[in-house]
Amino acid sequence: MPGPRNHGNRPRTASAALILGAALLLTAGLTTVVTGSPAAATPAIVGGERASLADYPYAVYLEDSAGTQFCGGVIVGTSTVATAAHCAEAVSTKDIRVIAGREDKRTDDGTTLAVTKAWVHPDYEKAEQGDDIAVLTVRGRLPGRAASVARDTGVYAAGTKATVVGWGRVADGGDRSDYLRAAVVPMVSDATCRAAYESYDPASMVCAGYREGGIDACKGDSGGPLVIGGTLVGIVSFGDGCGKPGKPGVYTRVTTFAGTIAQQTRRP
Ligand code: ARG
Repeated sequence: MPGPRNHGNRPRTASAALILGAALLLTAGLTTVVTGSPAAATPAIVGGERASLADYPYAVYLEDSAGTQFCGGVIVGTSTVATAAHCAEAVSTKDIRVIAGREDKRTDDGTTLAVTKAWVHPDYEKAEQGDDIAVLTVRGRLPGRAASVARDTGVYAAGTKATVVGWGRVADGGDRSDYLRAAVVPMVSDATCRAAYESYDPASMVCAGYREGGIDACKGDSGGPLVIGGTLVGIVSFGDGCGKPGKPGVYTRVTTFAGTIAQQTRRP
């Protein structure tokens, strides 16, 4: 699924960044407004609404050395944060900052923590190929609370409602949100997801979203949590645009990696 946006590629070089930028502009230009979808009038994460960190105390975001939010993350231990591998590899480890306890980016609430170690799944190559998971160890203790990590794959039954939260774009090609947003999305079956994405791997990914689109995670939400009642079931990984009909969001299938996450949390 190397679509025009190609988020899975690691923007390691200036030319890659330029190509990515051009691709994003192109995507923005070509994207038609999704109308008639459930929440087209209330863009959020994309569809969804403002959320309180009190309800998602495990949600954090990642900033680069310029102070720009580039991904989300989720607290899984006293000093560990799970995120997407493509997020951990987008910025060199020494330049990643974990921002915890700041619901609104325009404030200086909460704590900023440096990253001492970034564990990236050894099989990760690009988001579209799966294994899009990393665990960051921070210097110091995280405020907030760790999410519990799902182990039972029953959470992925098609139609089960889950909530995705993040500080990412509020529209396909649009601006990132200043504050935390949340959206409810139903889990999508493996068959439907495979029909949407030829690279779909049910062992390491899971999809969520509405057939008609309109509500989805978007760029900048990557690495952030998809939860069911405070239990982490997915990590925002990739998608073809945001909120497009027939193109659900793809998430890292957390149950597959629950043991690995626990292991990385025990050995900081
Ligand atoms: N890869 C994107 C990022 O870097 C997240 C894409 C999620 N897209 C979606 N349509 N659910 O933030």
